[in-house]
Amino acid sequence: MEKRELLYEGKAKKLFTTDDQNLLISEFKDDLTAFNGAKKSSEAGKGALNNKISTELFKLIESKGVPTHFVGMLDDNHMLHKRVDVILIEVIVRNIATGSLSKNLGIEDGKVLPFTLVEFDYKNDELGDPKLNDQHALILGLVDYQDELDKIRRMARQVNDILKPYFAEKGLNLVDFKLEFGKDKEGNIILADEISPDNCRFWDMETGEKMDKDRFRQGLGGLKVAYEEVLNRILGAK
Ligand code: C5P
Repeated sequence: MEKRELLYEGKAKKLFTTDDQNLLISEFKDDLTAFNGAKKSSEAGKGALNNKISTELFKLIESKGVPTHFVGMLDDNHMLHKRVDVILIEVIVRNIATGSLSKNLGIEDGKVLPFTLVEFDYKNDELGDPKLNDQHALILGLVDYQDELDKIRRMARQVNDILKPYFAEKGLNLVDFKLEFGKDKEGNIILADEISPDNCRFWDMETGEKMDKDRFRQGLGGLKVAYEEVLNRILGAK
């Protein structure tokens, strides 16, 4: 399958059409952005690492019965996937408090939450991705029915139930992550986008070391080494 027209360029990926109207190709870029694009950089090889990590995680999630847009990895930087109508909700799943949760609500950084928290943010750069409740999402028409929000929340928890123990076995705490969903041509809600250290937080269980994009956000350095380590741990335990 080959790339045809550029459909859209986002911060971390370019999206291309293919000869099949139901399939698209994502090209994973080496660009890094944080704080809604205010901080920018690039790291050679980062895109390929995220493509490989996402590929493994989508395969795992599919194998456990959660439908995703993943079709196949084409080469280092390209993934073939189903075309979906993207639902403009960023679904944030949290096991441990940090980041904006600690900042906004004053919950101690590193506190294990009494239960898994699922939050919705409006995927809208201009507005700075504000928090949404279900009524906001329905009023904005981001989905048609409350049932769909319930389904998205249920699927997000299922993904957490798959990934949290999987990473724990590899010595990584899955602190939090962001998922995106879309509707396929039959109108089914499926998992889309990517699952990588760009949109997950991983803390090493022994050292507490951050193995994700916080290395860039917080200027810690060593981003590529950390992403490589995440991939190696995924591949190592296959
Ligand atoms: O910044 P915050 O604490 O809200 O991030 C929660 C999780 O969602 C983190 O894993 C972060 O990487 C991810 N996230 C993301 N894209 C955003 C906002 C958050 O991938 N626009």
